[in-house]
Amino acid sequence: MEFEKLVAERRSVSRFDPGHSISDAELKSLFEQVVLSPSSFNLQHWRFVVVRDAENKAKLRKAALGQAQVEQASATIVVIGKLDAHTDAATLYADTPPEVRDNLVPMIEQFYADKPQLQRDEAVRSVSLAAMTLMYAARDMGYATGPLIGFDPQAVSDLIGLDGNHIPVLLIAIGKQVGDLRPRSARLPVSEVVRLETMSGPGPT
Ligand SMILES: Cc1cc2nc3c(=O)[nH]c(=O)nc-3n(C[C@H](O)[C@H](O)[C@H](O)COP(=O)(O)O)c2cc1C
Repeated sequence: MEFEKLVAERRSVSRFDPGHSISDAELKSLFEQVVLSPSSFNLQHWRFVVVRDAENKAKLRKAALGQAQVEQASATIVVIGKLDAHTDAATLYADTPPEVRDNLVPMIEQFYADKPQLQRDEAVRSVSLAAMTLMYAARDMGYATGPLIGFDPQAVSDLIGLDGNHIPVLLIAIGKQVGDLRPRSARLPVSEVVRLETMSGPGPT
């Protein structure tokens, strides 16, 4: 699909056909696109748990303030951030020429060591970019998505078995849309959200 159309058509959907299933092959194709997303130092902080089983979706719905789309969607994907992804640098850069790797890997490790806030920021940043790829790729495959932040992180972590090194960043319901969409909510104008050079500069004309 043409990108401009894809962007215009992507909406946050909250009503899904509860009878529709998403296959492993479709998930594989979706995630093969998602993993092409950018991440800081290519650390790929993202992990995903696809909750597709009806009983598990019902439990996840409870952990998500009862939001019905979590259960009615074909699957709800828990988008997870790995906090210590920097410790994977040696493995990730194993095939890099030693003259690059031997400087880069310790530099990455030191950049993040003992900086829990930075580790968390990076996980959320990189994972959020993957989440956006997921929503556009899903749309391109004929699926609708709905991102959700309305959930109890501890309850979601317990449900899917996350340890303290992994945080649930976002839920994304994915499925076939039913019913009409509400009109797109208003956006702040570009003239208000974009400034040239400094925050007190003019907007683009
Ligand atoms: C980080 C994030 C969290 C969101 N959480 C929820 C949520 O918990 N429940 C919900 O119904 N919509 C949620 N939304 C959807 C927004 O309400 C929606 O993106 C916004 O109103 C703009 O609508 P559009 O995506 O259709 O353009 C969330 C969106 C984002 C990006």
